[in-house]
Amino acid sequence: MIMKTLRKTLWVSLALGMAFVFFACSQQQTSPNTQKKQFIDSLISEMTVEEKIGQMTLLTSGWSQTGPTMNDNYMEMIRKGQCGNVFNALTVDYNRKLQKIAVEETRLGIPLLFGYDVIHGFKTIFPIPLAESCSWDTTMIRKTARLASKEASASGVTWTFNPMVDISRDPRWGRIAEGAGEDPFLASAIAKAKVKGHQGGDLSDSQTLAACVKHMAAYGAPIAGRDYNTVDMSKRRFKEVYMPPYKAAVEADVASMMTSFNELFGIPATGSHYLLTELLRDQWNYKGMVVTDYTSIPEMIDHGYARDEKHAAELALNAGVDMDMQGASYHEYLKKSLEEGKVTEKQLNKAVRRVLGMKYDLGLFEDPYRYLDNEREDRIIHSQEMMEHALESAKESVVLLKNDAHRGSKVLPLSKDIGSIALVGPLADNQREHLGAWHASGTDSLVTTVRKGLEKEFPNTAIRYAQGCDFTGNDKSGFDQALANAQRSDVVVMAVGEKHTQSGEAASRSDIGLPGVQLDLVKEMVATGKPVVVMVMAGRPMTLPWIDENVPAILNTWHLGTRAGDAVADILSGQTNPSGKLTSTFPRNVGQIPIYYSHKKTGRPYDPNDGYTSRYLDVPNSPLYPFGYGLSYTTFEYSNMQVDKEKIGFGEPLTVTVNIKNTGDRKGEEVVQLYTRDMVGSVTRPVKELKGFRKIALEPGQERRVQFNVSSDDLRFYTADMEYQAEPGKFKVFVGTSSADVMEKSFELVGK
Ligand code: NOJ
Repeated sequence: MIMKTLRKTLWVSLALGMAFVFFACSQQQTSPNTQKKQFIDSLISEMTVEEKIGQMTLLTSGWSQTGPTMNDNYMEMIRKGQCGNVFNALTVDYNRKLQKIAVEETRLGIPLLFGYDVIHGFKTIFPIPLAESCSWDTTMIRKTARLASKEASASGVTWTFNPMVDISRDPRWGRIAEGAGEDPFLASAIAKAKVKGHQGGDLSDSQTLAACVKHMAAYGAPIAGRDYNTVDMSKRRFKEVYMPPYKAAVEADVASMMTSFNELFGIPATGSHYLLTELLRDQWNYKGMVVTDYTSIPEMIDHGYARDEKHAAELALNAGVDMDMQGASYHEYLKKSLEEGKVTEKQLNKAVRRVLGMKYDLGLFEDPYRYLDNEREDRIIHSQEMMEHALESAKESVVLLKNDAHRGSKVLPLSKDIGSIALVGPLADNQREHLGAWHASGTDSLVTTVRKGLEKEFPNTAIRYAQGCDFTGNDKSGFDQALANAQRSDVVVMAVGEKHTQSGEAASRSDIGLPGVQLDLVKEMVATGKPVVVMVMAGRPMTLPWIDENVPAILNTWHLGTRAGDAVADILSGQTNPSGKLTSTFPRNVGQIPIYYSHKKTGRPYDPNDGYTSRYLDVPNSPLYPFGYGLSYTTFEYSNMQVDKEKIGFGEPLTVTVNIKNTGDRKGEEVVQLYTRDMVGSVTRPVKELKGFRKIALEPGQERRVQFNVSSDDLRFYTADMEYQAEPGKFKVFVGTSSADVMEKSFELVGK
């Protein structure tokens, strides 16, 4: 291996070569970890301070822009050994050109890392992460990450800035689209699935990517839901709600972690020794690399935490940041700080070791061009495997919010023999917007529109399309055509929602109803008296009270990616039975935010007969649609819930069983959810906490007994002393079809 590196590394010094040869001779006796350590030690011993800082620098290529500033000089910096890592550089040809500069024109020939935001697909786009989380199917989610890695790595990418695991309980925040919703238990399971999916079992496999869990920490809780805003919460809330998914990713061996833009506990995350060293390294024993978010080192000046950029760079390194993304602050100032004794070379070496470690694990020292194969690029991108999975994952992500009868019969699914469909709305014949936020290099020309999907799925039906209106603006001139179509059709199918730029980064909204005049369009369609199906296609939970009250059939389809149109057509026809369940609460209005199922009870829980209890005067406390909610074209009946014991000791499992029967007339899948409640604690506990879930498929009439095990480990929380442990006492356990529709039993935890 090392000899191969030597062959490819023109400017490696003789001394380094000697060390390598010695090492190569002795490697038979040494473990892989020792080999890695020796290799990196030897390389570091050869590096100048500038070269070390170069390895700690990540710059964007000119290929695409994902932040406010650009650095045009990156190629020259690579050549000088000042930039060891590049992001937003794509295609085998382009990345080979850059890699050649690093390997053949720099003194030590250290290969580059190529980072990219492969969030829900690379060119073939899968549903946005929030949508996919509604599948509650971690096997499917893992496969999505694996395929996204396969496609991106075929185009020369080695490192993805994914998964984003930030919990969000505020749908005003545009980046809620990128996460797994509001619950730490589910989000942790999904975080693990994604890390494993991206990285596979072996990072050096050229079909895998190094993952990067982000954003450490609590980026999903900006005040008032405004992106980049201050985060202010108790340490208890952080540890119980926001922290677990990052920790889960670390447990799944994530190769890297990204800091967040926000401050937490009064300190910008990029300068937080508590987050990046005490928690991450000392408590979690994290061995991977830490990179900042885009320019977040110099942003510490605006935060009012760093005096100037040099100070900011020192704060970042001292906190535990290994790599500077796009700030170039390490590049500009770290050498001076070293000379002044503000940082030490030992710190530099630690950071460089982690960067080189990642490159080593990716197999780049063995073959810097291993990800750069034109034939593979042509073969993998948009391959059948990608396109098929894009359809499967899209179908699993759709949530049926309502399906009432119109004039005596349920609106959905639509009969395949239906004579005519009026198809209306800005997302009905659109390709690009279905790709959703952060859609990497998604190819919009390959997206199946809803119109195409319906034409294929309903070949004998007249599909009468009229856009009706745009996403934004006040123009209603298209309403007439939409109305005329509706009046002479059997059903109206509406595709309304958000553009892809209305969610995602820097896309917070204070009004999360349908933008523009879309709601007016829905009202006009309902007024025709025709059965109406509204498909809400958005990057966030929206406020839909009028639609909920007046429209008989509602599907929340989110932004579903490349196969969006095929997926929704399958669902509309009943070819696929929807099985998604919400992973974030849908508020009735913005005033209810933050609203989430696992709230505390308060000392004055709501009582309709007592005005001095916790409530609003103008809206119920309950959400429009709760966490875990989602309907099916069939029905499921829960019965005979049992716990096998009334008391359990520490470490002893409680078995919870329940029967679920498909009582409808078609096959369906149900996500069975288990929650617990600690009735009395040394600190108050939420009314419910998700502790298990199982997705099962049932034929019509079929009944299954589902079993969960709960142990004292599942009942742990941060006690009054901030110890993570369970406390003896009484508990409730709930099983049900959503967080608001459950059966319950009681048990006691005894001992200790
Ligand atoms: C800023 C975003 O916050 C982060 O998630 C992303 O990975 C970087 N830009 C790079 O594009």
